Amino acid sequence: MEVFTSIKGLRSFLDQQLLQQKTIGLIPTMGALHDGHISLVDASTKENDITVCSVFVNPAQFNNPEDLLKYPRTLEEDCAMLERAGCTAVFAPSVEEMYLEKPSLVINFGSLESVMEGASRPGHFNGVGIVVSKLFHIVSPHRAYFGQKDLQQVSIIQQLVADLAFNLELIVCPTIRERDGLAMSSRNRRLNDTERAIAPHIYRILDDAKKRLLSAEDVKTVIQSASEDFGSIKEFTLDYFEVVNVKTLQPVSTIGAPGTNAICVAAFLGPVRLIDNVVF
Ligand code: PAF
Repeated sequence: MEVFTSIKGLRSFLDQQLLQQKTIGLIPTMGALHDGHISLVDASTKENDITVCSVFVNPAQFNNPEDLLKYPRTLEEDCAMLERAGCTAVFAPSVEEMYLEKPSLVINFGSLESVMEGASRPGHFNGVGIVVSKLFHIVSPHRAYFGQKDLQQVSIIQQLVADLAFNLELIVCPTIRERDGLAMSSRNRRLNDTERAIAPHIYRILDDAKKRLLSAEDVKTVIQSASEDFGSIKEFTLDYFEVVNVKTLQPVSTIGAPGTNAICVAAFLGPVRLIDNVVF
């Protein structure tokens, strides 16, 4: 496996591969990899000749300097995991390599970003849109892989690909969970033992809400009791708990056809902000 820190080095490697008609899969990450990321690498290695994983903690998508500072950085371990998983190349640029200057472009995703993560983290999806566009230009992948855990990010990137005519296929892979239901996330490693023991309640409350909605309980009532459930566990500070249309991401007051509904949650456990969702 090759590790590149420069755009030029990676590009010339990929140009060689393209000359040989190789197909390229890209997995954009911010590192601190876990089995959820590795499931994306597995999907890519099955479908492409070359798998490139980018590891870049993108300052442009953090609106909280403390969160950026504390974001786990574990490049050596990440590379070992990626090599074992059969990744072909890692792209781990410095901030200066990715942003010679602060970008003046601002991407506004309209109603897709005015809710949930976009509302709680102003500027977050502008930063995601810019870095993902750059990665798509640098790598020119045939396929790019993202996890459903970041449901709103997936919608934003689908919009980006459609609006800017990126010539690639977006593949969305299912959320990978720990045995106790906690969605895998790089942020989980920042939880202390008490917080880690409590964290699976996020999925328990989501799953309970889904079952109640499927048994025709009223959306407002279900949201209210999920909020109370979070409120009853003192370590949680709930940011949002929303029942939305999976395409528009707008809140709904009644449940639609199977596969069109999502429940999305963000909650702080101590200082760590975790998100999760179920689509049904
Ligand atoms: O999901 C992430 O880890 C990041 O938002 C991404 C897509 C790598 C962009 O920095």
